[in-house]
Amino acid sequence: MAKPRTVYVCAECGGTTPKWQGKCPHCAAWNTLEETVESASPTAASHRYAPLAASTPVRTLADIEPRETPRQPTGLDEFDRVLGGGLVAGAVVLIGGDPGIGKSTLLLQALAAMSANSRVLYVTGEESAEQVALRARRLGVPTGNVSLLAEIRLESIQAAVSEQRPTVAVIDSIQTLYSSELTAAPGSVSQVRECAAQLTRLAKQTGISIVMIGHVTKDGALAGPRVLEHIVDTVLYFEGDTHSSFRLVRAFKNRFGAVNELGVFAMTDRGLRGVANPSALFLSQHEQQVSGSCVMATQEGTRPLLVEIQALVDSSHAPNPRRLTVGLEGNRLAMLLAVLHRHAGVSTFDQDVFVNAVGGVRITEPAADLPVLLAIMSSLRDRPLPRGLIAFGEVGLAGEIRPAPRGQERLREAAKLGFSVALIPKANAPRQPIEGLEIWAVDRLDSAMEKLR
Ligand code: TYD
Ligand code: MG
Repeated sequence: MAKPRTVYVCAECGGTTPKWQGKCPHCAAWNTLEETVESASPTAASHRYAPLAASTPVRTLADIEPRETPRQPTGLDEFDRVLGGGLVAGAVVLIGGDPGIGKSTLLLQALAAMSANSRVLYVTGEESAEQVALRARRLGVPTGNVSLLAEIRLESIQAAVSEQRPTVAVIDSIQTLYSSELTAAPGSVSQVRECAAQLTRLAKQTGISIVMIGHVTKDGALAGPRVLEHIVDTVLYFEGDTHSSFRLVRAFKNRFGAVNELGVFAMTDRGLRGVANPSALFLSQHEQQVSGSCVMATQEGTRPLLVEIQALVDSSHAPNPRRLTVGLEGNRLAMLLAVLHRHAGVSTFDQDVFVNAVGGVRITEPAADLPVLLAIMSSLRDRPLPRGLIAFGEVGLAGEIRPAPRGQERLREAAKLGFSVALIPKANAPRQPIEGLEIWAVDRLDSAMEKLR
């Protein structure tokens, strides 16, 4: 086989040059050239990205026999939940998150649990073998059957995996690997993408499940992982506040299960423990009702969750008052404040507005709109909301309150936790009364505000 050659490909126009330049000679775009490998004369079969089967005939869907994919439980119920019931053979999972949030801990625990009845391999590029062993000892997990490889060269890892044939291999982390066919530094986009592509190919070829750990912040600020999302089957993100002990693992993409499923863990001195019933976790405990706080009933995947939304509205001394959100969408807040002004006659143009979802949880669903506005109103008037109130509902630009999916489940969870009043969209009003829960169904923002008078 001819020796692979390094070329630089323009991300804009796809043109290639043999040498790196700041400006693409084809389309004149700046900073778009990326290093990739090209075999000198890639024939169809010898190409490094060649398909696995020699040639695939065209068939009709009816002719194809679908196979149930067997799943391997990971031994951690909450982890299985986000994966959609366990690891699928040959699947590639990317798990991202801030440094120090618990990615290595989670995967080490899962591997140790799985090692009881299958072959597992932990590839560490980040920590030394001794450090991993020390952590395993601290976690108190069985380590007798966990194979360990401290290596960062992709080709050696491929060889080891092919030889060991584990059921599951964990790569910790994808940013530390390098392929000797690229000259770029480990962690650069081209290295990360190349290593991930080769490992994915290996997983598909051999049926080994591969879990890749990646360092990312939510907005993909650090190198790589965002470009991997298309390559892998499942993308999970670790979230949560590193200062609190709770950690959330959320599925963003899953070819083998539901997305937006949430796994909840608590970090203890013996590693991560699943929290089976997390609905009351994100409520802060106030002795008395305080202003600026509203409990929201949200739905995460298949599970209702109660989250406290806090708002602080304070008179602003800056020409541009501040609008700041933590755990909620910032642009949506600006929109909601405009709706509040227009449809409920409450202006905040001279006020700073801060909104926070308690406990480091992130809420992306629009059903947070009504609770956010209720918390803002409560803070603005410095008057607590009625005792035992929960709310949810999307607020439209015309001031209407739109229903949220799975309203009944949210209401039932709230009733179970002792809430007594629910301020909800009219379309979510239950047909049968829910015991212990008074329903205030509203269809306009002004009538919702009316209820608080
Ligand atoms: P780690 O899994 O190393 O994070 P990542 O791989 O995502 O960078 O987690 C490290 C943090 O977890 C560290 O701050 C210490 C804490 N921790 C515990 O609280 N208990 C434990 O049993 C372990 C192993 C770690
Ligand atoms: Mg780590």
